[in-house]
Amino acid sequence: MFKNTLITLLLLIIPSCLSSSDTGFEVGRDSYIQSVLNDDSREMKMDNILRDSSHYKNYPPVKCYPSDKSHRTIKPGEIPDYAIKYAPLVYLYSEERYFPYDIKKFVTNFHVTWRNGSVYPGTEHNMNLEKLSKLPNSTDLFLTANTDFDCDPEWITGSRNKPSPIDGEIKDAPATIIVVDKQNGWVDAFYFYFYSFNLGPYVMGQGPYGNHVGDWEHSLVRFYKGEPIIVWMSAHSGGGGYYYKNLEKYKVEPTHPIIFSGRGTHANYPSVGQHPHDLPYTILSDFTDRGPLWNPSLNYLGYTYDGKKIHYGNNSNPKHVGREKEYGEWLRFAGHWGDDTLPSNDPRQRYSIVGGYKYIEGPKGPLDKNVMRLLPCQDAQWWNFWKVCNIRNDIEYGVGVESEGYNCGRLTSNIRPVWLRKTVQNIMWGGGICFIANMLD
Ligand SMILES: *[C@@H]1O[C@H](CO)[C@@H](O)[C@H](O)[C@H]1NC(C)=O
Ligand SMILES: *[C@@H]1O[C@H](CO)[C@@H](O)[C@H](O)[C@H]1NC(C)=O
Ligand SMILES: *[C@@H]1O[C@H](CO)[C@@H](O)[C@H](O)[C@H]1NC(C)=O
Repeated sequence: MFKNTLITLLLLIIPSCLSSSDTGFEVGRDSYIQSVLNDDSREMKMDNILRDSSHYKNYPPVKCYPSDKSHRTIKPGEIPDYAIKYAPLVYLYSEERYFPYDIKKFVTNFHVTWRNGSVYPGTEHNMNLEKLSKLPNSTDLFLTANTDFDCDPEWITGSRNKPSPIDGEIKDAPATIIVVDKQNGWVDAFYFYFYSFNLGPYVMGQGPYGNHVGDWEHSLVRFYKGEPIIVWMSAHSGGGGYYYKNLEKYKVEPTHPIIFSGRGTHANYPSVGQHPHDLPYTILSDFTDRGPLWNPSLNYLGYTYDGKKIHYGNNSNPKHVGREKEYGEWLRFAGHWGDDTLPSNDPRQRYSIVGGYKYIEGPKGPLDKNVMRLLPCQDAQWWNFWKVCNIRNDIEYGVGVESEGYNCGRLTSNIRPVWLRKTVQNIMWGGGICFIANMLD
C-alpha cells in the first residue's frame, strides 16, 4: 500500500518537473496517462516470448491473402458458418453508461470537417453512410458532432441498446464482422464493436482523461480449417491473445467464447475484475464484471476483405439478408469516427499534466486496425523485441474484490494444505513469478 502511494506521488511529481523544464515537452501528447494508454508494448504481457505466434505447433504457417485462388479457403463474400458459431459474446459492465450503437444512425448526428476545421462541403445537412463512403481517402477528416455530445444525448449513450436479457441480441446496433483469408486453411474473423463514446479512466478521483466520440473495439478469432485456435481481443492500443480452448464459454451455446468489456473504455479482457493497463501497479485500471451479456452473432454486418476490396457478405441471419448492401461502402472511410481533440479554449476541454486532455480525437475505423495482420496482435512487429506478439496459455484474471481467480493458478492450485498454498501465492507477489514461468512455458 505504502509502495503504491509512493509511486503515485512520484508520478505526480515527475511530470510536473518535466513540464517546467521547457525542453519541448509537448502538451497533450506526452502526458503520462495518454502515453500509457497508447503504448502498444503492453502486448508483452503475453507469454511465450520465445515462440513465433504466426507458427503454431503442428500447423502450416499463416500467410497473407492468397492471390492464387486455389490457395483460398473462402470465396469473396463468404461468411463461413464457423465465424458465427464461434463469435465471442461480450459482457458489458453492469453500470456501463455508453452502449453499442448503429453506425447508420450515428453518422446522421455529424457533419464532416478537415483537421483545420473547415467543413467538407455537402456534409452540413443530412449526413449519411453513402456520403461517408464517398469522402476522399484521407485520415485528416473528422465526423464532427452537430450538437453538444457532452450532455449525453441518446445517440451518445445508446441507452436503448441494452442487450436482450433473453438471448443477448441488441436489435438496433449490429456488430461488424470482417473475414480475411490467411492461406493454408487459416481464416481470421474480426468482430468489431462500435460504441458512440469512450469514457476515459479516472485516476485517484481525477479525470476522466482521454474521452472520445466514437469507439471501435474488436476481437479476432483465428480459425484453422473451421476450428477456432486463437482469440485475440483489443484493449486500448494493444490487447491480449489467448488459446480459444482456455477461454470461458457461453453456457447456452458453449461454442462461443466470452470476453469482458471494460467500464467506459470498452477495452476487452478474458475475465472479471480490475485490469491494470500497465505499470505501475493498479493506478490505471479497467474494470469488468458480469453486466448485460451481448451476443453480436444475432445481429451483424458481414464482409470479406482481401487487402484492397471489400465484399458484402452473405448474412446468415434471415432478418438481415442484404443489409450490407444498404449500408454501402462505409468501410472505405479513412477518417475519424468522432470529433477532433477539442481546442483548449472550448469550455468542455480540460488539460492536466498527468492525464492530458479530457477530450481527445475520435478513432479511425475498422480497416485501420491491421486486419491483414499475420501475427494475431494488432501492432506486433517482429523486429521489435518488446513488441513480440505472444499467446497466453492461462487466462489472466483481474485483480481486486471482484476477481474470480488467481493468476498462476495452474502452478499453485495443487498445493496443500491451503495455508501453504496461500503463503506460496503471497510469495509469488504481484504475479512476477508467473510472468516468468509463462514466458518459459
Ligand atoms: C451467397 O448466397 C447466395 C444465395 O444463397 C449464393 O448463391 C451465393 O453463392 C453465396 N455467395 C457466397 C460468396 O457465398
Ligand atoms: C483545410 O484543408 C483542406 C484540405 O486540405 C483545404 O481544402 C482547405 O482549403 C483548408 N481550409 C483552410 C481554412 O485552410
Ligand atoms: C488510401 O490511402 C492509403 C494511404 O495513402 C492507401 O494505402 C490506401 O490503399 C488507400 N485506400 C484506397 C481505398 O484507395
